[in-house]
Amino acid sequence: MMQNTVKTAALTETAEKGKTPWWKQAVIYQIYPRSFCDSNGDGIGDLAGILSRLDYLEELGIDAIWLSPVFRSPQDDNGYDISDYCDIDPIFGTLEEMDSLIREAGKRGIRIIMDLVLNHTSDQHRWFLEAKKSRDNPFHDFYIWRDGDGTRPPNGLKASFGGSAWEWVPELGQYYFHCFSVRQPDLNWENPLLRQELYRMIRWWIRRGIGGFRLDVVDLFGKEPDREITSDGPGLHALIREMSREAFIDPELVTVGEAWSADTESAKLYSSPDGAELSMVFQFEHHLADREAGKDKWHRIPVDFVRLKKILARWQQALSGCGWNSLFWENHDLPRSVSRFGDEGPFREASAKMLAIALHGMQGTPYIYQGEELGMTNIRLPLEEYRDIETRNMIRENREAGLPEAWIRQSVFAISRDNARTPMQWDDSENAGFSSGTPWIPVNPNYREINAAEQRKRPDSVFSCYRTLNRLRKRYPVFTDGTFRLLLEEDRQIFAYRRENAGTSLLVLCNFSGECAANPLAAETAAGKLLISSYPDSGDPGVLRPYEAGIYLFERQKEE
Ligand code: GLC
Ligand code: CA
Repeated sequence: MMQNTVKTAALTETAEKGKTPWWKQAVIYQIYPRSFCDSNGDGIGDLAGILSRLDYLEELGIDAIWLSPVFRSPQDDNGYDISDYCDIDPIFGTLEEMDSLIREAGKRGIRIIMDLVLNHTSDQHRWFLEAKKSRDNPFHDFYIWRDGDGTRPPNGLKASFGGSAWEWVPELGQYYFHCFSVRQPDLNWENPLLRQELYRMIRWWIRRGIGGFRLDVVDLFGKEPDREITSDGPGLHALIREMSREAFIDPELVTVGEAWSADTESAKLYSSPDGAELSMVFQFEHHLADREAGKDKWHRIPVDFVRLKKILARWQQALSGCGWNSLFWENHDLPRSVSRFGDEGPFREASAKMLAIALHGMQGTPYIYQGEELGMTNIRLPLEEYRDIETRNMIRENREAGLPEAWIRQSVFAISRDNARTPMQWDDSENAGFSSGTPWIPVNPNYREINAAEQRKRPDSVFSCYRTLNRLRKRYPVFTDGTFRLLLEEDRQIFAYRRENAGTSLLVLCNFSGECAANPLAAETAAGKLLISSYPDSGDPGVLRPYEAGIYLFERQKEE
């Protein structure tokens, strides 16, 4: 109660001063710990490895690290199956190392954002082990159970990683519900005791110095499985508001909700500036732009560029002044952006920089996923070498369904989550400097050309482009507070927009194609100051070269 009052007071104060919260000017870097840096040669990245690379992150100029889960876990879904929220998994290190990561990052002005998976736990969590013992165990109701006879699940709901969402437990004569793997039973958010346990745990992390939380699949908390409702259940926002009030006791905290189902209307609730729910929403509509309704998720459809632009613009406009966007092309569940939207060949660097410019110019908090700042690409492995549970289940199910091997391979290459999970490419030494042992998943063989050591030295590298973007954001408030207007809406090659505040405006101009494009805004760009470009040299101002992108600055004269 006390803490809530404190929080409300602090929020009001912030609002009164009109102070912009730090996370609106921040750039967040996502680390997938397993693949970032291995300190002890067991082939798995760890906290000590991250500690050893903080200087690199400081040089890049980021403000916070979103750490994919490092909690104790059987690693069925690489940590998104937590068996103890208050401990660190031994493969990653210890609580003491976590404390020193918070401290050492703090010295460099970097906050740590933990990845909280509250929709489900591991089946090895103490709560679930208890819950399974008997129907009257005090923890039984922490999970979602329905009676049955073992021959027919309560309904046809499917799990995201394949099969029914209901798993039979013969000893209890009941099914439990799981949105993901059978080893990730869903928590029963209708139970107030469970919610209190979760809030207590969150406050415990805040007292340890955590800077914020990313909330895994937050849109599933209000599910009503009997009505076959999983995302956006009727009680969802009330639950998030309660969590915000009772658990997010530090007004400086940043909170990010992952919501695959979010639309612009629900996003305004999630990220309302009054702080009632979360700081921002992490939504995927721009990634679904080319996924037609009903089409198989695994089938690659070429990107519908004009549609993509309109989606991005709609989110910019809809949330302006009444919500906040997360800006991202990549994370640990998505293929590499260069492979998807850019070019893996001769224009890899130009297209990686173009994607960075296109994204970082918009309003919202940009996210850089590890390796994106180097223009790392997708990988192609023999199908047996994929590690991701989603990919493995999908390969098995498609084989059982009799789909041709070539089709399965193409789908996996295009969209497997392992594309983003190959080890970070630090240098051109063995295993890309990631590990002295055998990496848990193969290193992309292109690490000899694509690696951090080479790019840090070179002013025209993808790394340097990200570094400059991070600096520009701090220098020009218009990146944070400027309005957004889409230009050249129907153009099939160019993504162009204007950002504007009282004194300054930016013109962001990006050729998203591998061909030259006539520059319809040449007269305007000639009058602006070029802040950053995806090409090291200036070409013909009337033409945008393949993947050429730039940000132009216009400053209004101060009136006397
Ligand atoms: C989220 C995570 C994903 C995980 C799933 C289940 O979508 O980003 O990696 O598999 O939730 O926790
Ligand atoms: Ca290790």
